Amino acid sequence: MNWSVKRIWTICKSMNKKKKGAAAIVMVAAVTFATGIFYTREVKTTQTAQTTSEKQTTEERAEETVSAKKIGICIYRYDDDFMKLITKELKNSFIENYGIEANDIFTFYAEEDLEKQQEQVEKLMERGVCGLIIQAVEEAKIPALADQCAEKQIPVVFINSEPTEEEKQRWSEEKIAASWVGTDGRQAGAYQGQLILESPEHGDFNGDGMVSYVMIQGDLDAEDTKNRTEYSVKTLTDQGIRVQKLTEVSGNWEESRGKELTEQALKRYGRRVEVIICNNDAMANGASEAIQEAGRVVGKDICLVGVDGLRSTVTAVRDGNVTGTVLNDYHGQAKKAAEVLMKLVDGEHVDTEYLIDHVKISGNGQ
Ligand code: BGC
Repeated sequence: MNWSVKRIWTICKSMNKKKKGAAAIVMVAAVTFATGIFYTREVKTTQTAQTTSEKQTTEERAEETVSAKKIGICIYRYDDDFMKLITKELKNSFIENYGIEANDIFTFYAEEDLEKQQEQVEKLMERGVCGLIIQAVEEAKIPALADQCAEKQIPVVFINSEPTEEEKQRWSEEKIAASWVGTDGRQAGAYQGQLILESPEHGDFNGDGMVSYVMIQGDLDAEDTKNRTEYSVKTLTDQGIRVQKLTEVSGNWEESRGKELTEQALKRYGRRVEVIICNNDAMANGASEAIQEAGRVVGKDICLVGVDGLRSTVTAVRDGNVTGTVLNDYHGQAKKAAEVLMKLVDGEHVDTEYLIDHVKISGNGQ
């Protein structure tokens, strides 16, 4: 799928208007819900001369309304623009689609510390959450986190950080109430490769018959990093394009690192740098700044691509400062993750994996 930047922009704008309307509906619903609880409690304490069955019904209703569902959300670190978007959408979805109160959604950030994340999971279970959404600090520790939840019989949906095939298989064999909602990093990488192929001279600005590129990677342990890196380049070579890797280095998904690493690469390799591939948009935004400061011009002598579809990057695509990006559909992922968790909480069967498609965003109207 390929969307032009104009189309994405229109959707972003219209989404905001809708959100305002939705917020008003949620407020009305919250007031109605609160009034309902109050009414039920009052009935229970004032009606003393009721029959047993009447009393039971009233008590059951009181219990139903009072035992509100609590949800825990665990995110690897706070300072990540993409994860902020997905977290916000998750909360919206629990509130708007499942009537969970904002106060009953607890969000913890682990600041990239696995032990801290495990403690947070424990704390949330003690607080009585009925389900957890976890973005694991380390993908290799997903089995330990899944076991931690299974021990207390708390359903969990992992987002973003990817479990192995064996782990998903284990959930289904051992009937662990767990699932993963994420994306296919190979698709994101392939779209980045296509964006480069569609750019002037398919990135071979100096006409030497070879595309010389700089790869700025995310967290080196993440499956997304490996897949996006491999498939962006593979898409070029599959089309018979000769490539030369000037450098490949991790910027840990961070904007400031994206900028620093681009500055270093431009200083070291100068005009030889024709393409900069960033595993995410935060780093592409940093790279874009460094490119402009170095007096290089995207679309004329350099090509720059990212992944995520952050609003700031989509604006930069529109303005011609980034060649293109790939929408990492945070809205779709959040909505699906909330839906799957609520199904698990209700004891329904779910798959062990749900993949949400990426969308290519280019500035050339394709
Ligand atoms: C996103 C990055 C984000 C990372 C966090 C990736 O899917 O593209 O922007 O930093 O997830 O794990």
